[in-house]
Amino acid sequence: MIILGIETSCDETAIGILEAKKTKAGFFIKPLSNVVSSQIKIHKKYGGVVPMLASREHTKNIPFVLKKSLRQTFGSEKEFSKIDLIAVTKGPGLILSLLIGVNFAKTLAWAWEKPIMGVNHLEGHLFSFLLPEKNKSHKLSINDYEKIFPAICLLVSGGHTQLIHIKKFGDYKIIGETRDDAAGECFDKGARILDLEYPGGPNIAKIAEQVKTIQKISKLQDISLPRPMIHTKDYDFSFSGLKTALLYLTQEINFSNKKKKLTPMLAFELQEAITDVLVEKTLKAAQEFKTKSIILAGGVSANLRLRQKFENRLKERDLNIKLLTPLLEYTTDNAIMIALAGFFQYVYNPRKIWDWKKLEAMANLRL
Ligand code: KG4
Ligand code: ZN
Repeated sequence: MIILGIETSCDETAIGILEAKKTKAGFFIKPLSNVVSSQIKIHKKYGGVVPMLASREHTKNIPFVLKKSLRQTFGSEKEFSKIDLIAVTKGPGLILSLLIGVNFAKTLAWAWEKPIMGVNHLEGHLFSFLLPEKNKSHKLSINDYEKIFPAICLLVSGGHTQLIHIKKFGDYKIIGETRDDAAGECFDKGARILDLEYPGGPNIAKIAEQVKTIQKISKLQDISLPRPMIHTKDYDFSFSGLKTALLYLTQEINFSNKKKKLTPMLAFELQEAITDVLVEKTLKAAQEFKTKSIILAGGVSANLRLRQKFENRLKERDLNIKLLTPLLEYTTDNAIMIALAGFFQYVYNPRKIWDWKKLEAMANLRL
């Protein structure tokens, strides 16, 4: 079947078209187009996403994103008859942004006479590790699919930091989450303190690369940040204190007069602190729940240091747990992951197919 995915939960206007099929042998997954129109340039000057501006941009861009997506897939923007299902993010997210995508999808469903499905944005992130590059296909046998579960997913984005125990598609339990700021938010706010541009995560990661070894930083004992809640018995996180600790540290070491020298080291230490906590708690959960794999998802899962630390620790501790990571292009918000989650919902829970009249955006939707 051919699924058209639509995503507008935050500041990316995205439409993707996916070919997917389930046979007795397993799953066939092939992204046909993945168009993402990013609004970063617009929000950059405010240091974060401005909801009213995001909504206005989605409204302006979404018809063009659809045209491009149809043209890339079928060679013509008028060719929508081959689409079997529309899958749209219904939540969670910024309500003014969600409403644009949901109402656009409902209008298409009505005009094209297609079934429509509301997808949880987080469920889209959870399964993005299964997506191959555009126009390449991925065949996953039932046997291999079953070897993935039970899994622990570390979902880390600008709005979420959650550890989710997944028994199978649709069977999720959030075993821990952040009590305040999300990990991505900590990268973004930390970047602001260091005078780096929004979005902070990729900029922190890039500048931290200048510090080549951990030994170098350990010599600078005064550059040290806490690892909040790393040893607590639960699976919760807390990152707001880390941002405050960074702010105090910059004042103590007179950062404003030595920016050039200190920025890479502070960025490095912030990245070390955030990733240490994420890795430790996830490994603890995976061992305690005896999972077969660890799935990384969300914008922060693009962080290469995070991936490297997971690989190192799994090897050092000789743990027989598979690390499953999405391709970098699918870590941040996109609509192909929404189409895939819509497809799985169709396979496992077809009753969830909605009539467009019943679909509503829900800003606080939970997994
Ligand atoms: O999943 P996403 O695109 O949007 C949300 O649903 O929030 O995640 C965006 C977040 C931002 O906070 C951004 O700074 C962070 O992901 N991010 C990164 C990296 N790339 C994006 N954080 C750390 N390292 C990266 N390489
Ligand atoms: Zn997201």
